[in-house]
Amino acid sequence: MVRAIIIAALATASTVFASSATTCSLTQKCPSDTPCCSQYGECGVGAYCLGGCDPRMSFGLDSCVAAPVCESKTYNFNNLDRVMSNTKYLGDSSKTDWVADGNPQLYNNNLLLTMAPDSVGTLLASSTYMWYGNVKATFKTSRGQGVVTAFILLSDVKDEIDYEFVGADLETAQTNYYFQGIPQYTHGANISLSDTFNNYHTYEIDWTPDQITWKVDSQEGRTLKRADTWNASTNQWMYPQTPARVQLSLWPGGLASNGQGTIDWAGGLVDWNAADIKNNGYYYATFQSVTVDCFNATSAPGTNDETSYTYNSLAGTNDTVVDGKNSTIIKSLIGTGTDPDAGAASGSSSSSSSSATATVETVPGRSGGNTGSDNHDDSSSSSTASSASTATISSDTSASTSTGSSNGQFSQGGGSSSSSSSSSKSGADKLGATQEKVLKGSVFAVIIAVVAMMAL
Ligand SMILES: *[C@@H]1O[C@H](CO)[C@@H](O)[C@H](O)[C@H]1NC(C)=O
Ligand SMILES: *[C@@H]1O[C@H](CO)[C@@H](O)[C@H](O)[C@H]1NC(C)=O
Ligand SMILES: *[C@@H]1O[C@H](CO)[C@@H](O)[C@H](O)[C@H]1NC(C)=O
Ligand SMILES: *[C@@H]1O[C@H](CO)[C@@H](O)[C@H](O)[C@H]1NC(C)=O
Ligand SMILES: *[C@@H]1O[C@H](CO)[C@@H](O)[C@H](O)[C@H]1NC(C)=O
Repeated sequence: MVRAIIIAALATASTVFASSATTCSLTQKCPSDTPCCSQYGECGVGAYCLGGCDPRMSFGLDSCVAAPVCESKTYNFNNLDRVMSNTKYLGDSSKTDWVADGNPQLYNNNLLLTMAPDSVGTLLASSTYMWYGNVKATFKTSRGQGVVTAFILLSDVKDEIDYEFVGADLETAQTNYYFQGIPQYTHGANISLSDTFNNYHTYEIDWTPDQITWKVDSQEGRTLKRADTWNASTNQWMYPQTPARVQLSLWPGGLASNGQGTIDWAGGLVDWNAADIKNNGYYYATFQSVTVDCFNATSAPGTNDETSYTYNSLAGTNDTVVDGKNSTIIKSLIGTGTDPDAGAASGSSSSSSSSATATVETVPGRSGGNTGSDNHDDSSSSSTASSASTATISSDTSASTSTGSSNGQFSQGGGSSSSSSSSSKSGADKLGATQEKVLKGSVFAVIIAVVAMMAL
């Protein structure tokens, strides 16, 4: 007989989880019970161990789950069938192309990244990783001061190649790159172009072991040679060199809780009463397509012969990446790299019995919404409360199945909303989106995690 216990960490619009997650860094690794260090520097299990999990800051090199290798493919957005919430994704890249945090919408065969009042916007990350190669995205940016649209490559050790657009300047594509997220104030360069809100442009990143070329509408806008990135004090190329996810995002650089440098860079505080909010209920950026062309090197670096990428050293350089066969999948949102079957539905759980009940973070929440390295001169960047999904694990049940959000396909990924408003008209209505199965971010400010435990 099946006993179903549903333990729901119910969130209402008036409740905000201040994340209780332990923070992590190069000098402070995660503890063994929450071994995975997320992209945002907090420890947890489940989604914390998937995309963005930094092996250098995690409990062990094997805490993070292996990353799915590159797949050459053109992604269109005629529907959102291949977009999955990060509260549901368990690492199987054959099941989805994009992992979403926030509120993606469909509009005229395009993907809208939306940012409703008091939200931290929307982030889509590819389920597979590129280890060099070419990626191009055709899109229109959002607009308005403080509103940032981004198309970037970001690796788990925080190598990064960026296009960023601040909504206060619609005639500039800002390009940047980072090696292992190390702040550099000299790496940015701008490309001028026509109105990025009203015009589609195709933004391309052509990335090889020896150079990166940023091209807009097939025209070279900037080239960086690895040869010019040597750091004589560390004896390293400060050059992006590790497998990276494609990330598309819309986020509020102009949030009062962000560092002043970020606010200034973004052009000031976001105006939550702007015309786009009044007319649609949110800011939006419009993505038409993304094309990934893998590098296909015949020997490392840059191969995609096997199924997954892992690291064999804390150095996190190109020569420490292993293109191998490790599984990329966890069985539930309490799984980790070393315990991928935790919470499995069929009684084979390795979390052995004890009557203790523990609460662990399972889905990282963004604070402030910056999706890449924060290089905007915030000397005293304040960290705001981020919301995160939490699973309550009663380890005397022998098995559990995490089902993620129960209230719709997506839930709002974070934000500091304390007051809710359901009055803002759905942008989907006004923009004619055909899908309505998406939560209104302003109503559900917090991710809802439900762990359904089914025990015999
Ligand atoms: C990959 O799998 C091998 C063999 O099971 C294991 O020894 C190694 O720790 C795994 N690597 C990572 C980074 O998980
Ligand atoms: C790029 O343009 C922005 C304005 O949109 C400006 O603030 C920034 O300083 C420029 N960066 C470079 C490297 O010229
Ligand atoms: C890979 O890393 C090694 C060690 O840091 C370095 O010598 C080599 O130049 C790197 N190659 C590339 C293509 O970045
Ligand atoms: C060299 O690396 C160090 C340590 O990461 C960094 O602080 C410094 O800015 C780098 N220097 C150059 C010229 O990139
Ligand atoms: C890599 O291989 C895939 C699959 O064969 C192919 O579609 C893609 O064009 C190749 N990429 C390059 C850069 O040759």
